[in-house]
Amino acid sequence: LAPTVTLSNGTAMPRLGLGTSPMNDADAERTVVQALELGYRLIDTAENYRNEVGVGRALRAVAREEVFVTSKFNKRWHSVEGARAAFEASAERLGVDYLDLLLIHWPNPDQDQYVDAWRGLIALREAGLVRAIGTSNFKPAHLQRLIDETGVAPEVNQIQLSPLWTKQENREFHAQHNIVTEAWSPLGNGRGLLEHPTITEIAKAHDKTPAQVVLRWEIQLNAVPIPKSANPTRLAQNLAVFDFTLTDDEMTSLSSLDGTGPAPADSDRSGH
Ligand code: A2P
Repeated sequence: LAPTVTLSNGTAMPRLGLGTSPMNDADAERTVVQALELGYRLIDTAENYRNEVGVGRALRAVAREEVFVTSKFNKRWHSVEGARAAFEASAERLGVDYLDLLLIHWPNPDQDQYVDAWRGLIALREAGLVRAIGTSNFKPAHLQRLIDETGVAPEVNQIQLSPLWTKQENREFHAQHNIVTEAWSPLGNGRGLLEHPTITEIAKAHDKTPAQVVLRWEIQLNAVPIPKSANPTRLAQNLAVFDFTLTDDEMTSLSSLDGTGPAPADSDRSGH
């Protein structure tokens, strides 16, 4: 099992989890069952992934309180009542009566109703229906607005993070406000990151795989990576990152890959 980090409201969250985009219901069910058997205890889904039913079927294999379940909702629910309706719909698809973490999936600044969605999440947490609340793909300016207008900071902001996009400004803002950084596409989503010589050399030095080195870099930045894999060997490999430590020099070399890859995926279009 992965160690945990304590969120600002006191909830314990595993330091590594399973991402489920893109997986359909059948793939998600099979993969989440395997992941739970291997010891994963954080499962990340979203309304937008259309696999909550499959994820929910797999969750029945363990006691509800043993697994940290995250979902996210789309922009049509950006209101106080909408957030409640989004929670109810996700909970029903997943077959659970509470969520460990519910996130606003994107700020959708053009629509400009994310502060209302945030008020809805605060009410859900007060009602005990969600244990922790947060955001996804929010930039510091969006987070600042939530804090200014409601006085409540997210417990988690989930962003695309890898050595190719180190998001230093985001991470510094999170650290100042006690927001845990969760990393989607932590392996660079197949964009050649895992073949980069800087990474393969460090991997060799630790007798680890490139994926394990990248996940360890994220953990040492205090981020919570949620790698996606549909392959049992790679699922097991991605969880085995708590038995070695990267040196400061190795951390710096990995961080220096920032900006050297292709442009980050547009999260709205890629669906993460
Ligand atoms: P697969 O599902 O066949 O394992 P990200 O989480 O950054 O979006 O990356 C997901 C991609 O990385 C998937 O294509 C996944 O393929 C692949 N992947 C996941 N774990 C590993 C690993 N340990 N080594 C190499 N590739 C991996």
